[in-house]
Amino acid sequence: MTDLFSKFDALIQQRETLLSTGQRDPFSLVMEEVKSPTVAVVNGKETILLGTYNYMGMTFDPDVIAAGKKALDDFGTGTTGSRVLNGTYQGHRECEDALKEFYGFDHAMVFSTGYQANLGIISTIAGKDDYVLLDIDSHASIYDGCAMGNAQIVPFRHNDIEALEKRLKRLPEEAGKLVILEGVYSMLGDVAPLKEMVRISKEAGAMVLVDEAHSMGFIGEHGRGVAEEQGVMDDVDFIIGTFSKSVGTVGGFCVSNHPKFEVMRLVCRPYVFTASLPPSVVATAATSIRKLMHGSEKRAHLWENSRKLHAGLKALGFTIGTDEPQSAIIAVIMPDLEGGAKMWESLLNEGLYVNLARPPATPANMTLLRCSLCAEHTSEQVDEILGMFERAGKATGII
Ligand SMILES: Cc1ncc(COP(=O)(O)O)c(C=O)c1O
Repeated sequence: MTDLFSKFDALIQQRETLLSTGQRDPFSLVMEEVKSPTVAVVNGKETILLGTYNYMGMTFDPDVIAAGKKALDDFGTGTTGSRVLNGTYQGHRECEDALKEFYGFDHAMVFSTGYQANLGIISTIAGKDDYVLLDIDSHASIYDGCAMGNAQIVPFRHNDIEALEKRLKRLPEEAGKLVILEGVYSMLGDVAPLKEMVRISKEAGAMVLVDEAHSMGFIGEHGRGVAEEQGVMDDVDFIIGTFSKSVGTVGGFCVSNHPKFEVMRLVCRPYVFTASLPPSVVATAATSIRKLMHGSEKRAHLWENSRKLHAGLKALGFTIGTDEPQSAIIAVIMPDLEGGAKMWESLLNEGLYVNLARPPATPANMTLLRCSLCAEHTSEQVDEILGMFERAGKATGII
């Protein structure tokens, strides 16, 4: 009889080899205490957090916490039901209203996670005989949304405008087409050329979905994302986002101006067949989203942090994923998984947590130390972080 787990043997072996050297397991870290958006206790040591998606530092905002506590008292711990049955509370509606106001869109639909938002929207709107065109570096939830649906999938080279245009031209004129883009690609922190890509997609009669998970709250004058920054909000048909990053809690959403959008609530299986978010979560999300509308000072400070870290790491001799800082993610390219794991551990021993990202999550089989900055990191913390990178980089021979 086949052991169904045998397909994982290579991965198990790779992990065992890594850990047999005494290397700490980068994928089972525990935050023993969390003191603020930028500091936690890990392995008994106070550690600066540089690998969270807490871009705007909303997780400890007093108004956000108060809203969550009040909802917990007033509405209880959970809805125990689907959005389409007993699981839509006043708070879910208020959260959708906050999203509509934040983006200036007519419709907003809150899902239990961003993963489910992509899964649901993509698999539901692109059906048999339709085409989905997607950047090859798309997030797993986008790929999984495609796999769950019946449309023909047409991948194109990362951020390659001509490749997208060529593929669009090859498709039957009358076929339904959906182009899926991300504002910021989370592995390297690079931004999509949305202006051109949205234009050629619309010219070809395609609908456009932009996942703004890593840009919401930070990029664009009002923090609406890369579509706002590049002036294409009016031409985007669907914006997907998450509450698990700048908003500082958990949940996902889709906003749209399509006049028939509300039908999605009836036909989108990852919306219908799952329990809705707890009242405390939607209350924290709605409060956070409303505060993000007025976050321009925080946005400016986060850009300062991003520029300072990027320039500092470059000056130290590290190889960075983008020539210039394009978002709050600064990806430091490691020579290989072994070197990356050593550097990751050395930074942790210094008191710094970053994300170790490895294939298959990364493009071109790269091993990356992904640093994501927070608006609550002080300029002094960024100096401290650079000092830690310098010491760890020299100790491991990476620089
Ligand atoms: C681009 C992108 N889309 C969607 C998601 C899923 O978000 P969530 O954490 O809410 O499931 C992520 C999460 O990492 C992401 O990076």
